[in-house]
Parts: sequence; structure tokens; C-alpha cells
Amino acid sequence: MAAEPTTQHQDQASGRSGSSIELHGVTKQFAADSIALRGINLKISGGEFFTLLGPSGCGKTTLLRIIAGLENASDGEVEIGGASVTDVPAHKRNVNTVFQSYALFNHLDVRENIGFGLKMRGMDKAEISKRVTETAEFIKIGNLLGRRVDQLSGGQRQRVALARALVNEPDVLLLDEPLSALDAGLRSELQLELSRIQRRLGMTFIFVTHDQQEAMVMSDRVAVLNDGRIQQVGPPQQLYEHPENLFVARFMGHQNLYEVRQQDESGLDTCFGRLVGEFERGTHVLIRPETMTVVREDDVNAGPNVFAAVVRERVYRGHVAEYTLDLGNDTEIVATCNNVGEPMFDVGTRVAVKVQTSGVVTFHA
Ligand SMILES: Nc1ncnc2c1ncn2[C@@H]1O[C@H](COP(=O)(O)OP(=O)(O)O)[C@@H](O)[C@H]1O
Ligand SMILES: [Mg+2]
Repeated sequence: MAAEPTTQHQDQASGRSGSSIELHGVTKQFAADSIALRGINLKISGGEFFTLLGPSGCGKTTLLRIIAGLENASDGEVEIGGASVTDVPAHKRNVNTVFQSYALFNHLDVRENIGFGLKMRGMDKAEISKRVTETAEFIKIGNLLGRRVDQLSGGQRQRVALARALVNEPDVLLLDEPLSALDAGLRSELQLELSRIQRRLGMTFIFVTHDQQEAMVMSDRVAVLNDGRIQQVGPPQQLYEHPENLFVARFMGHQNLYEVRQQDESGLDTCFGRLVGEFERGTHVLIRPETMTVVREDDVNAGPNVFAAVVRERVYRGHVAEYTLDLGNDTEIVATCNNVGEPMFDVGTRVAVKVQTSGVVTFHA
């Protein structure tokens, strides 16, 4: 079952549901010294927005191409809608792909670009026209149908590429870093729009990105990949709040990571002091920056999980102030404070930082 969507809204689902996808031991070896995928096992539900997240070269595109049938796995099995597709060629899988480079036909106009696949399938002209118009209206490019593709902005071109895939009504849509060429504002707008479209259509989306923020705002679940292996799969909140290893913690953007020196039932020791509380056993500890409280040194009574620090750096981000605090012993910690109108701490201020045990996670490297 798909987890609860993280971007919650009220769009009515269409009632249809995309196909489920299962990968069993999928491996890809390009050459003796080039292994792109090392035994990938995944179950993606029909209608789920699923994201593959990982650094460049970790195998994301290769995995998408294997699902699409554009590449053969060296080993393992792919199932779409409960049936093995190992011997089904790409054009017979009800799967469409949107690539990072839009790959539009510059000599055709927007209407012809969107309708191209339907025309190749021999669909009736009137039916093509109707479907293209509907799809273009749906993703808000109805006014651009007569334009030439080389007269469009990057965002408009990406919408055309998306419409060209959606008009085929695939059960599964694969999206390979489709937004990475766009500037930040347009990108976050299209992120939200894509997740709305996906929920309205009920298709299965497999989205690829190297950007953890993008993965978090769009996805029902995310798989973090590194070097051809899945590191962790779960809803965004689980990956961010409970990373299972150091790679996932770092990739989700966490900086406050420390080695555990010693651990017993009442707490654990780190290079900056003792954290009191009952924590899972682990070799490393993460303290989430938004769970700490920072106060002036004089405003706090010493107690468990309170540490003296000096403000080394302050970054103003509008909704939060982000402080890099020097805890002594060559150790720093980053804490964010909500901007609720209180004056900010200046660099050099002596402060006390209180760590909440709910913001502390332990795990093995
Ligand atoms: N056609 C190919 N021939 C040889 N090696 C390849 C080929 N395609 C990808 N690779 C290698 O496989 C690994 C994964 O690549 P890719 O799937 O493109 O990663 P990502 O999309 O995550 O950046 C990389 O080391 C890449 O160099
Ligand atoms: Mg890629």
C-alpha cells in the first residue's frame, strides 16, 4: 500500500489506478568493472508517486530504462501490473518516459508534438485533436497549441514534453530529472503541479531526482540509492526523521552527525558531552537542527542535555535563523530557530542549547 501523501490536498482522484511495479534482484553490469545496479528489490503500488533519489552515477537512469524496456537487466525480474515483462519490448509496455532533455520536434508545433505518438499508432484525426486539446488544457498550455516549439520557454517546453507523455494515458509514467534544467521558482511551481496531476490521474509515477527537497515535497515514498544499491525506502518523513545509516542521513541534508563513544541504558556519550535519555543502540547519533532550543547563556539553568556554546555563524533564511554553534572540543552544531519576531543572536554571543530527546536519532554507519 502507498503511504499517505506528504503534500496533502483535496483533488478528487480519477478512480483509475496505474499499474504496480515489482523488481526482483535487478542487476546491471555494463562491463567487468562497471556495475550500475546490484540486486534491486522494490514493490511500487499502483497509483503511487515513487521517487528514486541518489547522487549522480548511482544507477537511477539505468533502473528507469530497465523498467521502460530500453535496457535489459543482466539478472533479475521486472513485473508490471503483476506480470513479468522480461520478454515484452518497450513499445508494448504501457509505460511512457519523460526525459531531462525535452527531446521535442522543433519543426513541429505544440499540437503536432503532443499528438505525435497517437498519430504513429494510427488513431483517427478527430480523436487525436480532441485528446490533445484536453491534455493541453489540463496542464495549462491550451493557449500554446499553435506555437512552434522553439518559441517556448523552458517551463513551457517541459509542459509540452509532459503532455506528450500523458496523452498516451500510460499506466506508468517514468520521469528522469524532468525539472532539473529549470530555475528555482518555476521548479517548485511545477513540483507541486506534477504531484497534483499525478493524484488526479491516479497513474503510477516513478520520478528520478538527485535533489532531496524535491523528493520530499512530491513523493508518497522515496528510495535512496547509492552505488547501485538501495539504502532505505520509506515515506519522506521517515527518511528525514529516521535515517537508517550515515549515507541516508547526509543525503537528506543532515549535518549534526556525531560518533557515539559509549552507550548505556541512561544515555550516550559524544565528543561534546553526554546525552541523557533512552536511545536505540548505534554507532552514530543525529540531532535535528529544528528540535533544539537556543537561549542566552544567562537564561537557562544547567541540566541534562543543555550545552554551553558560542554563536559562530548566523544565516538568515526569512522563516528561520540558522546558527552554527561552537560547542568546544572542535565540535559544531547547527540549530534553526523559527522567526517569530524575537531578536536574533549575534555572532560571538554565548548561548545555551537545549537538545530534545525526540530530535535525537541513533543508527549504525
Ligand atoms: N551505456 C553504458 N555503458 C557503460 N556504463 C554505463 C552506461 N550507462 C550508464 N553506465 C554507468 O552506470 C552507472 C550508473 O549510471 P546512471 O544510471 O546513468 O546513473 P544516474 O542516472 O544515477 O546518474 C554509472 O557509473 C555510469 O557510468
Ligand atoms: Mg541519470
